[in-house]
Amino acid sequence: MKHYAVAVIAGDGIGPEVMAEGLKMLKAVSEIHGGLAFETRSLPWNCQYYATQGRMMPENGLDILREFDVILLGAVGSPEVPDHVSVWELILPIRRAFQQYVNLRPIKLLKGLESPLRYKRHDDLDFMVVRENTEGEYSNMGGRLHPGTPYELAVQNNVFTRYGVERIVRYAFKLAVETGKTRVTAATKSNGINHSMPFWDEIVREVSLQFPQMDTKLYHIDALTAYFVSRPESFDVVVASNLFGDILTDLGAAIVGGLGLAPSGNINPEKTYPSMFEPIHGSAPDIAGKGIANPIAQIWSISMMLDHLGHRELGKLVLDSIEAVLVEGKVRTPDIGGSATTRELGGAIREQLYRRGG
Ligand code: NAI
Ligand code: MG
Repeated sequence: MKHYAVAVIAGDGIGPEVMAEGLKMLKAVSEIHGGLAFETRSLPWNCQYYATQGRMMPENGLDILREFDVILLGAVGSPEVPDHVSVWELILPIRRAFQQYVNLRPIKLLKGLESPLRYKRHDDLDFMVVRENTEGEYSNMGGRLHPGTPYELAVQNNVFTRYGVERIVRYAFKLAVETGKTRVTAATKSNGINHSMPFWDEIVREVSLQFPQMDTKLYHIDALTAYFVSRPESFDVVVASNLFGDILTDLGAAIVGGLGLAPSGNINPEKTYPSMFEPIHGSAPDIAGKGIANPIAQIWSISMMLDHLGHRELGKLVLDSIEAVLVEGKVRTPDIGGSATTRELGGAIREQLYRRGG
């Protein structure tokens, strides 16, 4: 029996609602396989914890997490706690301390769903975005000066290191090779941001020399966002800095059915530290407590976790089960045009899993 220790941070709002379905799915996967055990431990680190403890996680929170093979996150954030606190004190420290420098986000139109882009089909919408996850625009370097005066100012530094850019770009090329793809596209803005982005471009070109078989393109981020809409079929692997990748992938999620379906992995490729898998969406206070959140993003993030742990056949089984339910079209949450609850959709996906793998 192979054992995996899984830390579970369900978080706030719809986080615990979608996580409940995710964990049931994980249990089902382990039953079907027979030789895998996922030992989950729930960690109550969220905005409620903050309200009583004054922090998002205990002082030794990262030490606790370090012992796990992998981390599953729901979503954090609540109207009572400023977003920069909930994100900066929980998610970003985990991404950084554990060198989860890859944020991997599939942009894939599942069968059974239609894209809001007219005329675009499943074959047209199937690529990966590799977002840098530890530096770039989301650095906390900077500060504010002269508060409350007319000359008050704020400075936030972008941080691009050769080490950081090289490793993310190389990961993107290797991912393209491993998945049999031929095109790598890098997001830039070297016509407007004249120090860090030309540096980024230089490194993209240098790394691309080691992958001469790849068709490498650099596009300015403004044009690239337009191409996501006008010709998404021209992408295999897209690599972007932290901010550009963040924005691109929300757009990416929108063209394949919305946030309720979009998963992500915060990956430490060397496996020196645990990686973390989570839906892209937040805690959705507008629908929290109603039991109607779409659990697919969370369940798909578990499929990515299984891939990462080396169980690709199980990862695929989970994704195939999600797709089968969508193709059938009977059980859907309101965000994808149905009236089913989170639990009903989670249950339907598990039923498909048992049918396929049982
Ligand atoms: P959000 O992703 O929570 O919601 C945006 C919209 O998408 C809402 O209308 C929501 O109802 C809908 N939506 C999101 N997930 C859904 C799902 N699974 N099923 C159906 N509909 C879904 O983003 P928003 O409103 O900007 O942020 C809300 C809170 O979440 C904030 O506190 C924010 O900081 C936090 N947040 C946390 C993230 C994380 O934990 N990684 C990521 C993004 C936001
Ligand atoms: Mg985002």
